[in-house]
Amino acid sequence: MPAPYIQANTNGRLHSAHEPSLSPLNRGFLYGDAIYEVWRTYHGVIFTWDEHWRRLERSALALHLTLPLAPALMLVEIKRTVAAFRTETHFAGEVYIRLQVTRGGGAIGLDVALADKPDFVLLVQPCPVVAPETLRAGLKLSLATSLRRNSTATLSPEWKTGNYLNNILCLREARARGADEVVMLNLAGEVTEAAVSNIAFVRDGALLTPPLASGILGGITRALVLEKIAAAAGVPAREAVLRPEEFAAMQECCLLSSTKDLTPVAAIDGTRFKVGADTVTARLKSAFADYARAYASAHPELKA
Ligand code: PDD
Repeated sequence: MPAPYIQANTNGRLHSAHEPSLSPLNRGFLYGDAIYEVWRTYHGVIFTWDEHWRRLERSALALHLTLPLAPALMLVEIKRTVAAFRTETHFAGEVYIRLQVTRGGGAIGLDVALADKPDFVLLVQPCPVVAPETLRAGLKLSLATSLRRNSTATLSPEWKTGNYLNNILCLREARARGADEVVMLNLAGEVTEAAVSNIAFVRDGALLTPPLASGILGGITRALVLEKIAAAAGVPAREAVLRPEEFAAMQECCLLSSTKDLTPVAAIDGTRFKVGADTVTARLKSAFADYARAYASAHPELKA
């Protein structure tokens, strides 16, 4: 079966993602010398455009990397890429938009002075859908034991870089045990996050999620839930340093990310959590959908 069409845009050139794009000398390929962001649409509108752009700017600053385009111009490129995808595939549903920025290519060597100019690649595909069965039954997670999340004193998890090997290997370990996803600890044994999602728990009606200081990506979904959605749903929410010894005291668990919004977790290894309609997670998920609908109505300029 042919691979499903994915639309690419390399430095302004539209093409199928299955065709070659950047040079093999590109530093994103050689060293993971890159950053990225993922947006999705709700009701055809690019969700939380500014929040993701600001995080991209923070990642660029941390890596001393110059962004190739100003946000208004990148938004034009994104809309062109989504339009090309829709023309090619006749797909009218919600899309996933990935922007990868690399430091560029040049002579082989780590010195950033060897890089010519920043490159960008946009990728557009249908937004992955969490299967209804998974939403009903919840995800199975497993704790990574062979590796820990990068320390904030190394390549900080707060920077959304093109180097995900740590998470890839942790996820591999969990998948080898039959789990859907992984939970990573930091060097101090505190809970951090999953491979490409933040994590939260419900204890006695309140939502608890690890703080940035535990070494996590500052997720846009997580921040929205903490700062706006929990209050709208009447759920107390706060950051808390958490350890796996506390899993048994939690009634619910969920993953948070742009592509998953809130997805219930049924178990972390042998510890089971409540899932279903009558949960705090379900209430928050429904409040999140309300927020996304209101955002889409308020931002017609972000229609893609
Ligand atoms: N992942 N933690 C990590 C390590 C992530 O890569 C992501 C996002 C998140 C959630 O962040 P947000 O709510 O801003 O999407 C947390 C994206 C979706 C990805 O890599 O596909």
